[in-house]
Parts: sequence; C-alpha cells; structure tokens
Amino acid sequence: MNMMQGAISLYSTDSCMTDIEQTDYIRLEENMENIWNAAGQDMEIPSTEPQRQYYFIDKAKKYLEKMSEAAGRPLTFCVTTFGCQMNARDSEKLVGILEQIGYVEEPEEEKADFVIYNTCTVRENANQRVYGRLGQLGRIKKKNPHMMIALCGCMMQEPEVVEKLKKSYRFVDLIFGTHNIFKFAELLATRMESGRTVIDIWKDTDKIVEDLPVERKYSFKSGVNIMFGCNNFCSYCIVPYVRGRERSRDPKAIIREIERLVADGVVEVMLLGQNVNSYGKTLDHPITFAELLKEIEKIDGLERIRFMTSHPKDLSDELIRVMAESKKICRHLHLPVQSGSTRILKMMNRRYTKEGYLDLVNRIKDAIPDISLTTDIIVGFPGETEEDFQETLDVVRKVRYDSAFTFIYSKRTGTPAAVMENQVPEDVVKDRFNRLLQEVQDISAEVCAVHEGTVQTVLVESVNDHDSSLVTGRLSNNLLVHFPGDASMIGKFYPVLLKECRGFYYIGELIK
Ligand code: 5AD
Ligand code: SF4
Repeated sequence: MNMMQGAISLYSTDSCMTDIEQTDYIRLEENMENIWNAAGQDMEIPSTEPQRQYYFIDKAKKYLEKMSEAAGRPLTFCVTTFGCQMNARDSEKLVGILEQIGYVEEPEEEKADFVIYNTCTVRENANQRVYGRLGQLGRIKKKNPHMMIALCGCMMQEPEVVEKLKKSYRFVDLIFGTHNIFKFAELLATRMESGRTVIDIWKDTDKIVEDLPVERKYSFKSGVNIMFGCNNFCSYCIVPYVRGRERSRDPKAIIREIERLVADGVVEVMLLGQNVNSYGKTLDHPITFAELLKEIEKIDGLERIRFMTSHPKDLSDELIRVMAESKKICRHLHLPVQSGSTRILKMMNRRYTKEGYLDLVNRIKDAIPDISLTTDIIVGFPGETEEDFQETLDVVRKVRYDSAFTFIYSKRTGTPAAVMENQVPEDVVKDRFNRLLQEVQDISAEVCAVHEGTVQTVLVESVNDHDSSLVTGRLSNNLLVHFPGDASMIGKFYPVLLKECRGFYYIGELIK
C-alpha cells in the first residue's frame, strides 16, 4: 500500500480561535511566506523520506523564529504521554523534532505555547482523561494567543473520536494518528503556514521511516522499536485496530540504531513491540526474535537488554535458551496471562490454555531460576464466572509473579468482546478486582523479599524524588533500589547490598 492510499483524509477546517487571534495568525503567516520565498527557500519539496521531513523541519524552524519574534520570547512546548512504552518512545520522537525546530521544552503544560497529547485508547478511562484535560487546555488557550494544541496517538485512530473533536473541541490545531507520526514536522509546518486546523489520519500503513531526530528522556537507556502493530486480535483489545498490522523493522536498521545509541552513552535498551515473539516472521529474509537478540548481544558497550511484550503463544524454547545463555538479557519477563480460565482464554482469542501457560512458566523457571515474572490480568471479561476467576487466582498462586498489572475489563467499541453477552455487573467486577489485587500484592511482597541480604548490580537511574541524599537504581530483574548516592552516579553500574525489602522496592547500601 502506498502512503496516499493509506490516508483517509488530509483536510483543514476553520480554526475556532477568536477573530482577532485568527487574523493575527494569518497576517503573521502571510508575512512569513513572503520572507520564505524572498529568501529563495521555495525549493522543490523532496519526495523521499526522511529528507522530506528534514525539509519541513527547516521550514517550521523559519516560521517559529518569526512567531518567537512576534511573541518577544522563545516559544515552548510540552509533550504529555498517555499509555504504554510505545507511546513513550513515540513522544521522544516528537520531542526530537520539536527541539530541531527550535521549540524549548517547558515541563508545565499550562505554561507551554505548544501542548501535544500523545494519547492512549486501550481502556475507556484513558479517553475520558484526555477529554477532561483538553477542556482545561481550551480555557488556557483563550488567554495565550501564541498557543497551539496537537493530539496524536491511538485515540486519534478512532473515527468517532476525531468526529467529536471536530465538533466539540474546535480549538485543537493539529490531529494525527499512529501511522504518520513521522510526518509531524510536515503537518506542523502546514499548520503554521495555513493558520488552520490540520487533520491527517491514515487507516494503516506498511511504511517505516528511519533516521528521524529523537530526543531521549534518559541519556543512558533507551527504548528501541523492533516492530509495530499487532496481528493477534485478542477479542477485548483495540490495539490491532489503532496500531495496524504487524510490521517488523529490518534487523540491520535495529542494530545500526542500537550501535549509535551505545556510541552516545546508552548502556541499556528496551526492545519494543506488541508481540516481540513474532518478530521477523513477515520480513523478506525472516529471522526469529531469538536470533535478533543474539545479534544485539554482540554489540560492544551495550550492557543490558530488555524487551516487551511477550505473547505466551509465541514464546519459543529457542528464546528461553538464548535468555538462559545470555550475559546481557535481563532476568525479567513480562508474560501477560490475562485470565487463568481456559474457557475465558478461548473467548479472549489468546490461543493458549491455563495448563499450556503454566507449563511454559515452568520451562522458563527451570532454565532461568532467577527470572522475575510479571504479568497483565483482566478481571470481568464478559461471561467470567466466580469459577473462572478462581482459576485466575490459582495461576497467580502457582506462578508467584513479582508484580502484576491488574485491569478491570473495559468495553472497546468495534472489538468482538464489546458485543458479547453476559457483561459482568460492576459491583461483581470490583469485588473480584479487590480480591485479586490483595492476592497479587501479598505474593509479590514475599517474592521480592527473597533477594534481601544479597549484593546485586544496580544501574543508577535518577536522584530519588523524595530524598535527594538517595539515588534510585534498577536491578536486572527490574526491581528498584534506593541507596545513598548523588547525581554523578546516574547511568553507571554499582554493586549494592539489598538491606531491606519494602514491598516493591529495596533500601540498599553501596559496596565500596
Ligand atoms: N480492558 C481492560 N484491559 C485491557 N487491556 C487491553 N485491552 C483491555 C480492555 N479492553 C490490557 C491487557 C493488556 C494491557 C496492555 O492492557 O491486559 O495486556
Ligand atoms: Fe492487544 Fe492481544 Fe495484540 Fe496485546 S497481543 S496488543 S492484548 S491484541
């Protein structure tokens, strides 16, 4: 599919800024267009990526200079991320582009001149949060004539959301989706040039644009996308509809990116994909995820490799072997179970059984005894009975997870589960949710405590939020430890004695 076939629409609607603001913008921008052309910048727009986007970065930069001059100060931005690690990584790409354009980062959303919401739609409450905060932003925008608002991410892939925004949130300047995030500079330049709202959503894409600017949140660790989209269609999940079909990045591009990151000081990478275990299957020269890991392991200077998320149905013995033999792959596996009932798993279209999952867990624990296992669990899937729920508790007790993300089932329009009968009453779901949480917390406190008294290698991530005499670091198994230290230790590894377990984290002491 070429990129234009993938586009539903690229159109402008009148912005609803007040007349005065609207006129100001257009006058300013006409002026800018003249300056642009007079400076001989009306060169042909490149048709290949990423060159095309660098052209628009340059163009937006010139507009921003004029806008800053008019404002009498540098203009600022704030990117707010909702949802998962994929979104966090996408936000770093947005920040990279904004900084190249010349915007200055402003941590406080209410003070920023350009606010970007990178949205999530996996559960309904994520959507509600966005609408709530957007209403507040609209009021702030009325007072700041320089302000722009952009929305992107998974929520924008839902046509009803875009319709609602067009109708009731007309002050939004820029709306784009998950498939064309690489076009951010082009869309922003179009917004700056036209003074009108720009909406560009693609239904799907097979395109992966490499080598755009990225601004990492941490200097020493980074997410790395290895694949996009999902083909699993779990019956409750909206992700395959908003993130599109599964596409794997070329392994050479992944290795090149990690090598560059390492040269730039990164010691830990998190390989990102909705289902990393099916990595590489659709490439022209297919390779397995385990083979990719072996290649990444060879990169000198890279110390730690993490990945998420693993689908149990695709987790191979080859991967378990590679993990067991590896010096760099962290002792942590996130293995979402979703439910412990084989009957519910079938309705969820997960394609494994309770017994199959438990057998997989046993094989992993046998091969890698010090592995830490975490999971995702949904409570209240349509038709879930108390017996089904007991099966979930049974899995929790048998696996003994280090931690678990527990979710109340959320009905997502367009998914098969949304029209299933026997939706579980709210009070029943809440009661099960509370019982599950208690079980998970009790077990994880016991499981985490087993490392008490041992010395472990810790990568220091930050100065402690609450006590600046402490630093916060992460163990290979993903647990956090707080211990005395200072900012100079960030990004480095230290041996730390785990003195005391406090539920989900440790208090430690540096071993000199
Ligand atoms: N309702 C509740 N939780 C969901 N998840 C995905 N879709 C839904 C839904 N409709 C959870 C799953 C997944 C995690 C990222 O979000 O547990 O693993
Ligand atoms: Fe959603 Fe299932 Fe794909 Fe995960 S594997 S993103 S739960 S459809």
